[in-house]
Amino acid sequence: MHKDVERILVTEAQIQGAVQKIADGINRDLNDEPLLVVVILKGSTPFAMDLIRKLNMPVELDFMQVSSYGKSTASSGFINMKKDLERDITGKNILIVEDIIDSGNTLFKIKTLFESRNAKSVRICTMLDKPSRRVVDVEVNYVGIEIPDEFAIGYGLDYNEQYRNLPYIGVLKREVYEH
Ligand code: PRP
Repeated sequence: MHKDVERILVTEAQIQGAVQKIADGINRDLNDEPLLVVVILKGSTPFAMDLIRKLNMPVELDFMQVSSYGKSTASSGFINMKKDLERDITGKNILIVEDIIDSGNTLFKIKTLFESRNAKSVRICTMLDKPSRRVVDVEVNYVGIEIPDEFAIGYGLDYNEQYRNLPYIGVLKREVYEH
């Protein structure tokens, strides 16, 4: 275990089980319809790369990055776009891939944006969900694992851009972020 990790929240085996469960649900629901997978940078990349290899339908991949500034402006619909999608999404089935849902603000804004761009359907999947932190009501179609409100790192999740490469999800020791 990494020296900065207090304890492991989700093991590698549990992660892979959750990825398979989510992929099974998507494969069942889409029933071979083409899917545009939108990866929300940066934290979602390990999950997204594991997930797409388990999807059976024709898959396109695109990336979006939004900044966390303005997270509190949920109702304004404002989104600070750092990197937008490359192509038009009109008429497409979209799957948004997230590593974690906290307040729900980010996903609410992205989903609303995609609907305004006339996507055929917009589904959301997340590896981790912190339901106790939810501020905005957003429908999440596929959830890997619900976790308590603790400082999670690993499998894409960072603190100060570190720990994204850990193969498991752990709780960061308090002494690392409280000095
Ligand atoms: C995290 C996560 C979601 C968002 C969730 O991204 O990947 O996008 O925060 O929080 P919310 O539900 O309260 O909106 P972050 O801004 O940490 O970016 P990163 O993935 O690049 O680390």
